[in-house]
Amino acid sequence: MNKNRSLLVLFLLLFTGTLSAQNSINLNAAEARTTISKEIYGHFAEHLGRCIYGGIYVGEDSDIPNIQGYREDVMGALKDMHIPLLRWPGGCFADTYHWKDGIGPKHERPSIVNVNWGGVTEDNSFGTHEFLNFCELIDAEPYVNINVGSGTVQEASEWVEYVTSSNVSPMTDLRKKNGREKPWDVKFWGIGNENWGCGGNMTPEYYADLYNRFATYCHGDLYRIAGGPNVDDYNWMDVLMQKTTRHRQLVQGVSLHYYTFTTSWGNKGSATDFGEKEWFSVLNRTLRMDELITKHSAIMDKYDPEKKIGLIVDEWGDWFNVEEGTNPGFLYQQNTLRDALVAGINLNIFNNHADRVKMANIAQMVNVLQSVILTKEDQMVLTPTYFVFKMYAVHQDAQLLPMHIDCEDYELDGNKVPAISASASLKDGKVSITLCNLNPEKAEKLDINLTGLNLTTASGQIITSQNMNDYNDFDQDERVNLQNFNVKKPKDGKLSLELPAKSVVLVQLQ
Ligand code: AHR
Repeated sequence: MNKNRSLLVLFLLLFTGTLSAQNSINLNAAEARTTISKEIYGHFAEHLGRCIYGGIYVGEDSDIPNIQGYREDVMGALKDMHIPLLRWPGGCFADTYHWKDGIGPKHERPSIVNVNWGGVTEDNSFGTHEFLNFCELIDAEPYVNINVGSGTVQEASEWVEYVTSSNVSPMTDLRKKNGREKPWDVKFWGIGNENWGCGGNMTPEYYADLYNRFATYCHGDLYRIAGGPNVDDYNWMDVLMQKTTRHRQLVQGVSLHYYTFTTSWGNKGSATDFGEKEWFSVLNRTLRMDELITKHSAIMDKYDPEKKIGLIVDEWGDWFNVEEGTNPGFLYQQNTLRDALVAGINLNIFNNHADRVKMANIAQMVNVLQSVILTKEDQMVLTPTYFVFKMYAVHQDAQLLPMHIDCEDYELDGNKVPAISASASLKDGKVSITLCNLNPEKAEKLDINLTGLNLTTASGQIITSQNMNDYNDFDQDERVNLQNFNVKKPKDGKLSLELPAKSVVLVQLQ
């Protein structure tokens, strides 16, 4: 700021009280170079609580309307949301899962105990065929997670062959005998999950060697994903990158897991009963995703400067206390407007890091943690998070417009976060800008300046509600959903708007 402008600002502050907030975003079409992978909008379904059984799959004999045993209502909602990808069978469950238990005639499949999640009996009626056929029906890419913790290399190798091979072999004969002639098209394979924890409590050195061994025998043109670090374990990332990239063809992606609690693992907080202090804390912790991605990417750059290896955030989202009266091992939680903000902020962060983040999977799709769908017997509820995914689908496979943002802070008790989170993309001549106003009390005025685009029309959508902890529930009218949002036409390359307090907004310009 030059001296004269500084004096003017000072004068205005002294004689007019507070200056009205000025937030601005600058976008330049010439900077659109990176594609936002549609897989950033991926989901995760584990054999955990009522995610698979009851949430997705009820069996053909169920009274709940279904197609081949899959819930009709859930399938319809997922298609409307444009789900691009689904990860399965876990999570911690993956490193206990032996895939041959889940193929063949259902009455012959053995039952196992789900040791991670409530000790319930798993009858294996939803297995490889049921998962892959489900993905075909909802038009989502499958992402299969292999068992490294308690599985063998042979088991992993045979699973890949059973699913993807068109050769004549014992595994492909078995697949055909089980009713599937053609292979499925499965590109994404995770090799282990959280191998620093539930996936074997390994050191990064030991896991990296094991990864190389497993990956060597998973044949084909696959996108292999190594089990990456927990949150800020930068040493894990460094060791893994160093040891796996020696055999560059074996690794295409590395995962990262980061969940948001209200304050800590020991104090996850309530999903619905909270005030502004907890609202702020959760949003502040969500913003940490940007720092984690930046720092992990910098380590990846050392070994992969061309950014060929994707950072795969295959577990993220809010993790709160389970709802009262539900099984603590089932991780069932409600989902409020605060979760919508958490989803919107995370997705903006992933978009803005599209050069390195190639996939992300919110945990989990139905009835577990930050779900987009909740079910109770034959009823279904779409959560605020669902509407964010539906709104943000416009970014899938669009060109990222790098964000130059200048915004004021949202402050609480001496702590600050930027009041606005945003990302933008360009597709078929249309600019889509997604915006979150984190401040629950104050609307934010915003100017968007567009360079290199002659845009004349504008439309908008909004997700907001009267209270920060409003949610959708069974036997109630939907409180939080997508509504139209009026936006003035852009003029001379500039659009001015006001973002209502605690809202997620989409603006589209053409
Ligand atoms: O999503 C629930 C669990 O969280 C997953 O099984 C595990 O990978 C993570 O710790």
